[in-house]
Amino acid sequence: MFKKVDHIGIAVNSIDEALKFFRDALGLEVESIEEVPDQKVRIAFLPVGETHIELLEPTAPDSNVAKFLEKKGEGIHHIALNAPDIEAALGTLKDRGVALIDSEPRIGAGNKKIAFMHPKGTHRVLMEICQDAD
Ligand code: CO
Repeated sequence: MFKKVDHIGIAVNSIDEALKFFRDALGLEVESIEEVPDQKVRIAFLPVGETHIELLEPTAPDSNVAKFLEKKGEGIHHIALNAPDIEAALGTLKDRGVALIDSEPRIGAGNKKIAFMHPKGTHRVLMEICQDAD
């Protein structure tokens, strides 16, 4: 159902500030930086081999990432698994009783289809499923 860890999402106060570590110190490349108004975040993607680091910076005080930062501070926000067929994966998870935040995929950064599982059923790790854009 899943082929790899697509990315690890990290909540940061400022992408510019965080790039001093992830880009300048670690030497990772920035593949893209884009704003996703729907989720009220700015997202930077930094490939590391087959997977990516995803930096998430809130663009509004009522964004989920802003609330996360307020409660927990910066740190790992979610883990995303790449599914070749996200609709099929969501159907299988539903059949297996996994609680979902999104029962239908929505469009995230990079035009990917994404959906989140509910952390109450995932040992409190927020898990995302995503499918590559065509
Ligand atoms: Co993500």
